[in-house]
Formats: sequence, structure tokens, C-alpha cells
Amino acid sequence: MTIATEKPKTMPTQTANMTKNKKLYIKTWGCQMNVYDSNRMVDILSSLGYKPSDTPEDADMMILNTCHIREKATDKVFSELGRLKPHKEAKEAKGEKMLIAVAGCVAQAEGDFILERAPYVDLVFGPQTYHELPEMVLKANGDDRVVNTEFPEVSKFDFLPEEHTIEGASAYLSIQEGCDKFCTFCVVPYTRGAEYSRTAQEVVDEAKRLVDQGALEIILLGQNVNAYHGTGPDGKTWGLADLCYAINEIDGLERIRYSTSHPRDMDDALIEAHALPKMMPFLHLPVQSGSDRILKAMNRKHKADLYRDIIAKLRKARPDIAFSSDFIIGFPGETEEDFEQTLQLAKDVGYASCYSFKYSARPGTPAANLQAALVSDQIASERLSRFQAVINESQAAFNKSCEGLVMPILFDRKGKKPGQLSGRSPYFQSVYVEGNERLIGSIQNVKITNGFDNSLTGQLELLDGVVNG
Ligand code: 5AD
Ligand code: SF4
Repeated sequence: MTIATEKPKTMPTQTANMTKNKKLYIKTWGCQMNVYDSNRMVDILSSLGYKPSDTPEDADMMILNTCHIREKATDKVFSELGRLKPHKEAKEAKGEKMLIAVAGCVAQAEGDFILERAPYVDLVFGPQTYHELPEMVLKANGDDRVVNTEFPEVSKFDFLPEEHTIEGASAYLSIQEGCDKFCTFCVVPYTRGAEYSRTAQEVVDEAKRLVDQGALEIILLGQNVNAYHGTGPDGKTWGLADLCYAINEIDGLERIRYSTSHPRDMDDALIEAHALPKMMPFLHLPVQSGSDRILKAMNRKHKADLYRDIIAKLRKARPDIAFSSDFIIGFPGETEEDFEQTLQLAKDVGYASCYSFKYSARPGTPAANLQAALVSDQIASERLSRFQAVINESQAAFNKSCEGLVMPILFDRKGKKPGQLSGRSPYFQSVYVEGNERLIGSIQNVKITNGFDNSLTGQLELLDGVVNG
């Protein structure tokens, strides 16, 4: 069954009362966009009386917000569902109802299969339908099973509540969704649908509300965030650079970041925008491969040297900038020579951090049909460890080079040890210091004492008469 896309914004009061003070457990996999979506699901379900809970025990509704980007995604969902099932059975034995829902990109890709294989799942819905949650929950509470994997005519952003859950002082803001690039390895164009940009006014208004609620940092999100082209308040089409300038003007906001971008959409205006004071000197710019042959087979539509040029231009616009990237190792047809070109690109850029993945064929993508010249799993694993050795070295060197610097750190939570705080540097490194909990949600200067492989430690500097909190 698929439900209609047109719906009232909120549930009728009677139904809302029926579901007062219910516990909602959400488990989120995958990208920052999924984290943003999960927070928005919390916002929309709070109008039905659902309050977030950290544990699945005794929850009234559980949502698995899933990711389909790399291998074993569906298996992971089924094993998590297997773990949740006893909680549902225990609740039902007490005569109470518990809804189990699968959301996100696995739901989009495998909707009917999930309902068939896991008869205890009540709802399956794709990423473009979250605004329809109240109606879906109503149906599921009324004993109907719901599958909703439509790409509705209307945008969910027009229906989501203005109230916004943010954790700490760093907030995600989704400005663009979907992708029209069709890289041959990637499921996103199929699971998230066609590219869509929110209007600039909507984005700026949401950014202001986030700052009013205490956000010091805003991370603009999109699958292809620098392809953003929303209608501006002046009637012209705004690019990401225009948005960054507008958001830079918001009083009280300290930091702007954006993720994830594509080299083809790094236009000169955006490169220049990196000189803005609130723009953080750190950019995640995935390149995937350093071989022109493989970039072509991936349909990335640019050569490795274009990427090198962009990096050079960004360094000119913002001399203290550092980079991270995504790489896929072992794409079909990758030879030792191709791989060495990838290693070379990574060495040339000298990343501050990096994500690298062994290629996995995703069902329905063009690369999954490339039967010829598959790279054996053994070779792909060997190359991946060689690649990661280079990256780890470059990350460790970058972290080491931070020793002795004083950096503004945004503290977002307690550290692992008692009395410890954890925060993020301008380069998105995790930084641990000793300090008072009341500094969480603030930016403080920290003198970096140690640069480790994956994190930094430091000491709070005297600021506004506060030492060590
Ligand atoms: N196999 C391996 N890695 C993939 N990614 C996307 N699709 C695949 C795939 N089929 C990686 C890319 C992308 C990141 C989010 O996940 O590097 O940038
Ligand atoms: Fe996937 Fe990014 Fe390529 Fe779009 S640009 S198809 S999201 S890898």
C-alpha cells in the first residue's frame, strides 16, 4: 500500500491525544543528512506526543534511519530488526503497541522486500516522505502496514515544523537534496531522487532560528551541496556562495561549513567565499580517484588535474585551508598504475583527514554491470591498506603540526574521561581538554599540547577571566 501525498500538516487533535507522552527511539546510519533527517523526524513526531529516548527498551516507536551507500546495508538493517523484535514482543505481551519503522535509503530501495521478510515491521518510508509521518503513524497505529517510497510532487521542506531540534552548538541545515550527477558507482540519484534546492529565504530564515536557539556553527548539507541553486529573495538564482555571504551576516553565528561537495561545482565565486571570516578553513571535497581513466569510468566528468587546480585556487583564496576527501579503491578496471595515480594525488594534496572505501557494487547502478576487469577482493584490500597508510601518515603529520597553536574550539560534549570536554577545531579535529561542563556550547581558545593520530589534546587559555572553566 502507498499512501497519498496530500495531507493535512498536523494530525487531528483526537489522534494526537491518543499518542501523548510516547517514547521514540531512532537509530541513524550514514551521512550527516540522515542525522538532520532524524532530528526533523523527532520534531515532527513531537507534535504527536513522541519524546526521544536513548534506548529501544519500552519504546512506543522505533525508527531505523538507514543508509544504502555501501555494502551490506540491507543485511545490517535486518540484523538490527532482529535485535529489536524481542522488545516489540515483550511490549505486545503486556497488551501495548510498539511500531517498528524503517526509513532512509534502504527503505527507499528495498521497501516491499523489508515488509515481506520482516512481518513485524509496521512502516517503511523513503527520505522524501518524512513530512507525511503523522498520517503514516495514524495508519500504522490503526493496524495497517505502510510502505511509502514515493517521490512526492510537494517538497517535504514545505511541511516540516519550524521548531528544530539541535544538539550542542553545532547545527545541521539541509539546503539541497538529491543528485543529478549519476556517478556510475552511486545509489544516491536513485534513493534520494532528483536534485532539489530550497529557496534562499527559507534557508536564511532557518539559519537565523538555529542561531536564536544557540547554534554557533551551521553546517549546510546536501548530497551535492555546492550544486545548490535556489531562488533568492531578489528573484535571481542564488548559488552556494551567495548563501554563504548571507549567512555570514547573521549576528551570533561564528562558523560556517558545508558538505558534501563535487569538484565540478566549485565555481570561482564559491572559492572566493572561503575567504569569509566565518567560513571554516576546512573543506571536504571528495575526488574518488586520481586516475583520469577511472574518473571517466566513474562518470565524475573531470580530470585529476582539475581537482589539483581547484585545491590550488582554494589555497590562494584561503591560505590556512586544509582538506579531506573520499576515495574509492578497487573500482572495476583499476590497474596498479591507476591506483598509483590515486596514491600520488593523495600525497600531492596532503590531506588533514580522509575517508577511503573498497568499491562495492550497488544494485541498480551502472558500475554494477561492469563485468570485465573486476578487481579481486584481495588486491582491493591490499591497495586499501596501502592507501590508508599514506593517509594516516598525512593525518598524523597534520595533527602534529598543530602542537603549540592556539585554536578556537567549539565544545559540544563531555569527553570520555571524567572532567574532560570534547570539541571541534576549525579543521574538524576532535580536541580533548580538562574543563568545566558549563563550557559545552561555547567556543574557547585552547593551546594544543599533543597532536595524536586521530585527535588533539590541549589546555584552555585564559579568556574572559575563566581558566580551565
Ligand atoms: N562503493 C564504495 N564506496 C562508495 N561510495 C559511494 N558509493 C560507493 C560504492 N558503491 C563512497 C564515495 C562517496 C562516499 C559517501 O561513499 O566515496 O563519496
Ligand atoms: Fe553520488 Fe555524489 Fe556522484 Fe551524486 S555526485 S552520484 S551523490 S557520488
